[in-house]
Amino acid sequence: MNTRQQAIGVFDSGVGGLTVLRALMQALPGESFVYLGDTARLPYGTKTAATVQRYAARAAQFLVQHGVKALVVACNTASAAALPALREHYAHLPVLGVIEPGAASAVAATRSGRIAVLATESTVAGGAYVQAIQALRPQAPVQSLACQLFVALAEEGWVDGEVALAAAHRYLDPLFATAHNRPDVLLLGCTHFPVLAPVLSQVVGADVAVVDASHAVAAALRAVLTERDLLSGAASATAPLLLATDGLARFARVGSTFLGQPLAVTQVQLVDL
Ligand code: DGL
Repeated sequence: MNTRQQAIGVFDSGVGGLTVLRALMQALPGESFVYLGDTARLPYGTKTAATVQRYAARAAQFLVQHGVKALVVACNTASAAALPALREHYAHLPVLGVIEPGAASAVAATRSGRIAVLATESTVAGGAYVQAIQALRPQAPVQSLACQLFVALAEEGWVDGEVALAAAHRYLDPLFATAHNRPDVLLLGCTHFPVLAPVLSQVVGADVAVVDASHAVAAALRAVLTERDLLSGAASATAPLLLATDGLARFARVGSTFLGQPLAVTQVQLVDL
């Protein structure tokens, strides 16, 4: 049997979902992964929901044709816009998104219930996080901030230094610079944002928990693979297959920060959706 038939498919608009892939690889070292970054269409976060649904459908179809045994939508924007449709279309496969695990992580971390969600314009406009958090903690005062510039900073690799710091102050000070009703949790509702976590934490202060969905997604994936008897028996890790729809050199250069390991351009393959 082709080993890649045993792989787990993971996709995002770009390198952001590599923050999720990193957590999945740590939690499930025996699994093999195929990661697709749809860099030709990035950003998803400024597009309408209908367009994101179309892009997500193509990315998912590509991975399913590749023979994956499960699909992880490692993009909040695509999860918010397209997860129900993807789950319905690929009912035979486990299809996981990042919104519900992210909401659960934020709810577990908050004491006051005041949660700030940083996400793309599209994710904020759709209200998916407010819904998911309030399903777990009704009436929780959730404030969502569209921080689209963080996607560009992350894709540029400008994850620290004065530009990242100035952008973080500009987005976050209105919510966090007052002593009154400050959120106690900052939920990173975009998979590009974890690489900015140190700067964000510096701006909001050490009393605010900065959380993202990646570890909760890994736990949910492990649970569903176990339940469906789909866990790989392999003892050791194989390198993930990395695919991108444009800009392989940029993907490798910036992606290494997101994945937490060096990436050579020869490790990334160009595909067309
Ligand atoms: N990384 C994606 C997310 O989690 C979207 C970034 C973008 O393409 O705008 O929402």
